Amino acid sequence: MLAGKRVLLIIGGGIAAYKALDLVRRLRERGCSVTPVLTRAAEHFVTPLSVSALAGEEVHRDLFDLTKEAEMGHIQLSRVADLVVVAPATADLMAKMAQGHADDLASTLLLATDTPVLIAPAMNVRMWDHAATRRNLATLKADGVRVTGPNEGDMACGEYGPGRMAEPLEIVAAVEEALADGPLKGRRVLVTSGPTHEPIDPVRYIANRSSGSQGTAIARALAGLGAQVVFVTGPAAVAPPEGVEVVPVESAAEMLEAVQAALPVDAAVFAAAVADWRVTTASGSKIKKKAGELPPLELAENPDILASVAGLGEGRPGLVVGFAAETDDVVANATAKRGRKGCDWIVANDVSPATGIMGGKENAVHLITGDGVEDWPRMSKDQVAMRLASRIAEALD
Ligand code: C5P
Repeated sequence: MLAGKRVLLIIGGGIAAYKALDLVRRLRERGCSVTPVLTRAAEHFVTPLSVSALAGEEVHRDLFDLTKEAEMGHIQLSRVADLVVVAPATADLMAKMAQGHADDLASTLLLATDTPVLIAPAMNVRMWDHAATRRNLATLKADGVRVTGPNEGDMACGEYGPGRMAEPLEIVAAVEEALADGPLKGRRVLVTSGPTHEPIDPVRYIANRSSGSQGTAIARALAGLGAQVVFVTGPAAVAPPEGVEVVPVESAAEMLEAVQAALPVDAAVFAAAVADWRVTTASGSKIKKKAGELPPLELAENPDILASVAGLGEGRPGLVVGFAAETDDVVANATAKRGRKGCDWIVANDVSPATGIMGGKENAVHLITGDGVEDWPRMSKDQVAMRLASRIAEALD
């Protein structure tokens, strides 16, 4: 499946760089072309000659090489590949990527590229555990960068722990996954997920019991089919999936703004449990408790994000999917909701406490489309997500 593909391989300056030589070989064995880039620091660990001999191509090293610039500008170089792989991704390279620095060829290519990026971090365990690296890793993941490894084990520096670069064959597997030509390749899909928090004052809010697990599973499944996913999530109990663009929000108003900014998309799935009301009298400072006195909480209706997107004329996504969490007359209420909201499909589920669905691992849904109602058997939320994602792929085909 790698035959005919091209990887732009950025080799960072760490002891694990020697494994990048084997990675080049493994990729080429599978018919994948490799355009190698070495950082200055990497040249202390592997020579340009051995990298180019294995890659069968010239190594790119200098941002200001006029001869190379005349042959192929660095912006063009950043776009020639199907995937950019950074192996080893040192703590410094990760920091540069997270900050958007562009002070050498590797960091400039990473900032200029619009190609998916996969990194294989490798560093000392304390550097990996450092709060700064944690922050950078979170930023990179939120930017949609894929990450493979690091593995736990003995390190070249004599310590033990996570920080060893993933093995070349593990990186090859991650490259294959990243390049999988799913049916949603080239499609942009929006997913809303999680609850919203509506502030009462700086420390208190109105919320609901949504964990965000169904929306997260849907975003993961869509990304797995090759979609470019924008994941707008309220404060959820579960971590967002990898390989999607994460837009964290708190309130319904923020969610609406993030959704509007994400348009246009080919399909939109509204799995968020948006609070119906917000507090109009939200206080800028903490409301003091006074004996015998209750704070006046005035509520206003939140904007209906799903209905506003489904009602768009120009710029309406090709497919708009809403959710209906009901406790009574699930199908009848959800069918009415489909008409009211103007969406194409409704995924309806029974969230009565006895079902254990809200916050649980399983779901039993009915898919309501223009053609009627399908009752899906009870299955894991991951399975519901995969089934829904493949239905979305079919509908957009
Ligand atoms: O009206 P109700 O909350 O039952 O509708 C549920 C559907 O509408 C879900 O898809 C939810 O994400 C969406 N919704 C929304 N904005 C709101 C309320 C609900 O997008 N303010």
